[in-house]
Amino acid sequence: MQKGYQLFFGILAVMVISWLGLVVFPTVQLGHQSTRQVKEIGRHYPSEPGSIVLNGRKIYQQAGCVACHTQQVRQSGYAFDVVLNEVGDFPDSVKQILVDAAKLAGKALSGEEASSQMAQLPSTLLEGVDRVTAEGVIRLFKDSGAKVAANILPLGPDIQRGWGPRQTVGLDYLYDQPLLMGQQRLGPDLANVGARLTDRDWHLKHLYHPRSVVDGSNMPAYTYLFSVQPIDGEPSPDALELSEAFSAGEGMEVVPKPEAHALVDYLMSLRIENPVFEAPYMFTQADPSDINNSEMQPAQ
Ligand code: HEC
Repeated sequence: MQKGYQLFFGILAVMVISWLGLVVFPTVQLGHQSTRQVKEIGRHYPSEPGSIVLNGRKIYQQAGCVACHTQQVRQSGYAFDVVLNEVGDFPDSVKQILVDAAKLAGKALSGEEASSQMAQLPSTLLEGVDRVTAEGVIRLFKDSGAKVAANILPLGPDIQRGWGPRQTVGLDYLYDQPLLMGQQRLGPDLANVGARLTDRDWHLKHLYHPRSVVDGSNMPAYTYLFSVQPIDGEPSPDALELSEAFSAGEGMEVVPKPEAHALVDYLMSLRIENPVFEAPYMFTQADPSDINNSEMQPAQ
C-alpha cells in the first residue's frame, strides 16, 4: 500500500510542477500585459490594428504564410557604443580621461586624437564593447563634468540580417490573436517587413509572382489574389506593371483583388519601430528607412 501512495503523490507532483511551470508562472509573468506609454515615441504601444489590417491578417492566416515565415526576432545579447555628448567645463581632464579610457578598452590614443574626438560632438569613443568595459569607461568620466552615454546595440544573427532593430517580446504580440509567430523559416522573418520593404507595388508583384521581383525565389505564387482580365478600353489604374516574362499576355491585365490589397496592408503594418523596457536599443527616428533593402538575404 505504501508504494501506492508514493506512486500517487509522485504523479501528482509531476503534474502540479508542470502546471506551475507551463501555465501559472508564464501567466504571472506575461499574462497581464496591456498597452504601455513608450517615451521614445510619445504614445502608447502597441496600437490596435485597424479593420483593413485585420482583414489582411485573416488572409495571411488562410494562405498559410505562417508555414514558411516567422514573426519573431531573436537576439543573443547586447554590445555598447560609448559616446561623448558634452565635454563640460574641464576639457583638459576630460582629454586625459579619454586617453585612459582608450587604454582600458585595449587601445592606444594620442593626446591629439583625443582633442579631435572632443572637437566633434557627439563623438563615438568606443564601438561595440561589452557591458563591463562600457561601464568601466563611463565610471572614469564620473565627476569630470563631461556627459557620456552608452548606446545599446542588440546582437545576434536575426539582427545582423536586418530583420529587426531588437528582439521581439511579449508586448509586441498583444493584439496577435491567434498568434502568428510561426516556427519555420523557409522565407525571411516578417516581424519588421513593413519597415524593410516599403514599396506597395513590390509586395503586390511579389505575391502575384515572387520571381517577377526576386530572381529564383521559391516562394509560391498567390495568383488567386489577383484577377487576370482582358483590358477593357483603358487599362485599370492599379493593374500590375509586370515585365514581359510575367505579363498575362496581349490585351490582358493583372489587377489585385481587395484581398491582395488587404494582405499588403497587413504586411506593411508589421514593424518593430520602438524600444520597449524589456528590449532597449539605440533609438533614432530615422531607423527603419536606414536599413538597406538590397542587403537582405532570404533565410537559408
Ligand atoms: C513555401 C514557403 C513560403 C510560403 C508558404 C510563403 N512564403 Fe513568403 N517567402 C518564401 C521564401 C523562400 C522567400 C524568400 C524569397 C523571396 O523573397 O521571394 C519569401 C519572401 C517573402 C517576402 C519578402 C521578405 C523579405 O524580407 O525579402 C514576403 C513579404 C513574403 N515572403 C510574404 C509572404 C506572404 C504574405 C505569404 C502568404 C500569402 C508567403 N510569403 C508565403 C517562402 C514562402
